[in-house]
Amino acid sequence: MPLTLSPLHPLFAARACGVDLRAPLDAATIREIEAAMDRYAVLVFRDQQLTEDAQLAFTARLGPMDPGRHLAVRQHRRVRPEFADVSNLDEEGNVAGRNHRRILSNMATRLWHTDSSYKKPAAKFSLLYCSAIPDWGGETEFADMRAAYDALPERLRAEAESRAAEHYVHHSRATLGFAPSEDEIAGAIPPVTWPLVRTHAGSGRKLLYIGSHATHVVGLSLPEGRVLLADLLEHATQLQFVYRHEWRPGDLVMWDNRAVLHRGRRYDLAQRRDMRRSTVEDSL
Ligand code: OGA
Ligand code: MN
Repeated sequence: MPLTLSPLHPLFAARACGVDLRAPLDAATIREIEAAMDRYAVLVFRDQQLTEDAQLAFTARLGPMDPGRHLAVRQHRRVRPEFADVSNLDEEGNVAGRNHRRILSNMATRLWHTDSSYKKPAAKFSLLYCSAIPDWGGETEFADMRAAYDALPERLRAEAESRAAEHYVHHSRATLGFAPSEDEIAGAIPPVTWPLVRTHAGSGRKLLYIGSHATHVVGLSLPEGRVLLADLLEHATQLQFVYRHEWRPGDLVMWDNRAVLHRGRRYDLAQRRDMRRSTVEDSL
């Protein structure tokens, strides 16, 4: 059955039908999915019943996996080590206490960000699979950084074009007051620098590359740089650039971290939200 795409938003994001992600997909279908990602940046596959193995097998078809070993918090595992566990479940699969370390650490996913922007290469695609949702909240929002770039006022665009930001693994969580352990700080990967404006390899479109891992703008004072980052983020996350995904169990949502920012919304932490993410590493 061929891949069919139905747009979910005027600018980006589409529902993808006609593929069973458990089946071994042929090279032509993988190319169609990649082309759809270049166009839509977010693809929603519904009614998939993916085992961990099936999700990893599909992810591996899209490129090398992001090893994701830079967060020491992931020592006791509920899911295989290739996954980021973004659930609110503990190692035994029960709802974790709201002060559980991973719950606190994952709280940073509520801030607009792009996965792994604190390392090089950063993440290319993220694939988030849902098997349980709470009654209230827990949507995931995406903002189109290509459209946001296109709509920048001229002056702000010129500033962004000429600047780069540094991104650091512990920054986003630190802004929420989450203190990494001394070991985590000592073992942290060094910060990396990305231009604020990048060109998307697959589509040739320019885009804003920002988000909560960015600590400061190179060559500006901390306050001036942070105010610039805040202005860019405010512009880039206006409602017209945002698609909000309301989850159903069996959804696999895949996004291009180079082209969109994302954030999870708050939810009832007393109810299960079972999500696991596999990640494809970018090539630069
Ligand atoms: C992620 C992420 C948001 C969410 O998995 O990278 O940011 O809604 N998730 O769980
Ligand atoms: Mn994320």
